[in-house]
Amino acid sequence: MTQRKTVDDLFVHMLSDIYNAEKQLTRALAKLARSVSDPQLSEAFRTHLEETHGQVERIDQVVEKTGIRLKRIKCVAMEGLIEEGADLIEEIEKGPVLDAGLVAAAQKVEHYEIAAYGSLCAIGKQLGQTEAVELLKATLEEEKATDLKLTEFAEKAGNQKAREHK
Ligand SMILES: [Fe+2]
Ligand SMILES: [Fe+2]
Repeated sequence: MTQRKTVDDLFVHMLSDIYNAEKQLTRALAKLARSVSDPQLSEAFRTHLEETHGQVERIDQVVEKTGIRLKRIKCVAMEGLIEEGADLIEEIEKGPVLDAGLVAAAQKVEHYEIAAYGSLCAIGKQLGQTEAVELLKATLEEEKATDLKLTEFAEKAGNQKAREHK
């Protein structure tokens, strides 16, 4: 248990973890886009899928600039979050309720990513990895913007429900 001895090691581990998480997400977001009934929500998932491809590329750039060697690890947290979304797709028929569930599932994913990139930026800054931090910060902002967009969908779903009860 002495693999992560230094803050540098920790940075590499965390970067490897989120790299794997993003790769898992490229598959999951395509599935989310297919599973929702609201075309605007589907479009939002597709847009974030495109961004996610760019985020994977940004990590590749970080690797190039820093000479870091990423470790082959599986992000088990992301695997679990994705599995929860997949369970909803199995359990709920296509429609507004499933949409609301998948918005919530996707927001949990974004919050995980915001935490991961926020920590990477903070640690990267400590390590003086200025260029890497710039790239990671750009992704962090995309994740935050996606979370805000999803909040709008969540509120829209709430309003719909309120109308049903009038
Ligand atoms: Fe991401
Ligand atoms: Fe994201």
